[in-house]
Amino acid sequence: MASGEPAVDLWTLSDLTTPWCIRVVATLRIAEHIDAGITDIDALATATGSDAGALHSVLSYLVTRGLFIEEPLGRFALNDPSRGLLGPGAFLSLDGIGGRMAHSWSTLPTFVKTGKPGYADMFGAPFWEDLDAHQDVAADFDALMSYAGHGTPSAALQLTGGWDGVRTVVDVGGGTGAMLAELLRAHLHLRGVLVDLPGPVARSREVFEAAGVTERISVTPQSIFDPLPGGADVYLLRKVLNDWPDQEKVAILRRCAEAVRPSGTVVVLGGVVPDGIPRPLRIEMVLLGGRDNTVTEFRELARQAGLELIAAEERAPYFVVECRAVATG
Ligand SMILES: C[S@@+](CC[C@H](N)C(=O)[O-])C[C@H]1O[C@@H](n2cnc3c(N)ncnc32)[C@H](O)[C@@H]1O
Repeated sequence: MASGEPAVDLWTLSDLTTPWCIRVVATLRIAEHIDAGITDIDALATATGSDAGALHSVLSYLVTRGLFIEEPLGRFALNDPSRGLLGPGAFLSLDGIGGRMAHSWSTLPTFVKTGKPGYADMFGAPFWEDLDAHQDVAADFDALMSYAGHGTPSAALQLTGGWDGVRTVVDVGGGTGAMLAELLRAHLHLRGVLVDLPGPVARSREVFEAAGVTERISVTPQSIFDPLPGGADVYLLRKVLNDWPDQEKVAILRRCAEAVRPSGTVVVLGGVVPDGIPRPLRIEMVLLGGRDNTVTEFRELARQAGLELIAAEERAPYFVVECRAVATG
């Protein structure tokens, strides 16, 4: 090994045992059962309809990886890492969106060979259509998108020129409205418009109610490829563009450019990376065929859509790009 190179072992790197064991225990909700007092391996197997010997092997293996504690007489207990399965780790269940994500990785060869996602070959329909046909998985996806800690601390979302002069903000592909709700809570003068597919928009009601911002919100269930509600000051696209190939990105940006009021701003959070750094490998590639763009690439996509970049900088946890509509005529 050359000095300075990290110690890497091919077989450790490529081993699938741990990821699959974790997904199996997440699917069987083992952590919930242990938390509820079912700790004996036979009782866990009965509660989850599993083979006791096989389940014992999986749990004992995970103990060696630092998840769970094995006590005498085949009893298991939770430790801090396995308690994660009671929270966000539950999304690793193969029954919900976690299953779609895990299995999608096996279509990576298709993406690499064709540049297009193999998702529909595996699940029978492209990603968004598949979710539309399986509203339980769609609801799981929405929850994953909006669970605390996954997204932006939106209240801290900065805008060149600040929020004081902004009246209306449209969250384009805003899911169930978690970011919009936080933004309106932080800026009491703002009004918000949520644009997304009918399923997430329907699920946004309780998010806005819980945040106490319903009065200042309007919702628009529609496609982001159709004309957007017009005349707002700010159009937000968080983790939306990187779901799509470049041509579709331009189409979505063009809808924003058409809709934004003349001195307004289109803000892109996620999906653009600074020039000169390696482009991240994201699951959006295998789910949807989407990739991040460098700033230089994005500037060109924005230009095609009638937008010009006015800022591109790290505003943790996102690299944020702001654009203005190019004045015509
Ligand atoms: C990766 S999620 C991001 C959600 C949200 N912006 C966030 O940051 O949590 C992408 C969103 O795009 C929405 N979407 C996908 N295709 C759409 C379409 N054709 N029209 C409207 N929304 C769409 C999805 O429903 C989903 O809410």
